Amino acid sequence: MAPARTVEDPYDWDSRVEAWEEVSATDAFRALRDRILEEAAPRSDERALDLGAGTGLLTRALAPRVASVAALDISEAMLERLDAKAAADGIPNIEVVAGDMRSLPFADEEFDLVVSNYAFHHLDDEAKELALAETRRVLRPGGRLVVVDMMFSLSLQPRDRRLVLSKIRAIAARGPAGILRIARNAGRLAMGNWEHPTSPETWEAMLLERRFEDVRVEVLQQEAGLATATRPVNTAAPGPESRRGAGA
Ligand SMILES: C[S@@+](CC[C@H](N)C(=O)[O-])C[C@H]1O[C@@H](n2cnc3c(N)ncnc32)[C@H](O)[C@@H]1O
Repeated sequence: MAPARTVEDPYDWDSRVEAWEEVSATDAFRALRDRILEEAAPRSDERALDLGAGTGLLTRALAPRVASVAALDISEAMLERLDAKAAADGIPNIEVVAGDMRSLPFADEEFDLVVSNYAFHHLDDEAKELALAETRRVLRPGGRLVVVDMMFSLSLQPRDRRLVLSKIRAIAARGPAGILRIARNAGRLAMGNWEHPTSPETWEAMLLERRFEDVRVEVLQQEAGLATATRPVNTAAPGPESRRGAGA
């Protein structure tokens, strides 16, 4: 099925499909996908949502285990690739939806399960709060959230320092192109236009503030972290003032 609507793609994700296909084919990313599936424990009668689905690493593995999956992404080119791969694999129950995680084009309480792999760090903290409020809105009471993302911050804490240094070393080892990339990233960081990884502690605080329960955050290998939470049974979605961060 063609993407359901057109959205702005200010970071030009459309041009990164091939690059992302390479990264998502690595053992490390397959292992993260498998960890999400294990934590999510999907059931065959459930409707699921994959936020920032990209070319479908996670969506395509999840689809055979649930009734249906909506794959949401801001990039229509990513979704076109996902759709083509799902068709080639004969997977019939994936609906691709072009949209922004900050404002989900879905009804209240539409999903039993929301998952996301390596997408939230593209949102700054305010945008993450919006996306989490929206996630809570579209989850049914008792519905589960499972997120894997970069979880560290640019602090002087030993784990953060180690991660940043090892990333810089890995990029520098690629020679002049790597050095150029470090310079470009330093420029983007200075302009406040870098990726926005958030520490495990902040993830936990954000989920509690959004009134999720069963909140658990676990540090995984390298910079990755896993966050799981449940929308409480018998509660309404937070109102607009809470979506802005009041956490009422
Ligand atoms: C690093 S890729 C991860 C893709 C996929 N989850 C996977 O594991 O292969 C991040 C994805 O998030 C999408 N994305 C970034 N910002 C977004 C936003 N505000 N709303 C929806 N998708 C977004 C990008 O288009 C991209 O496909």
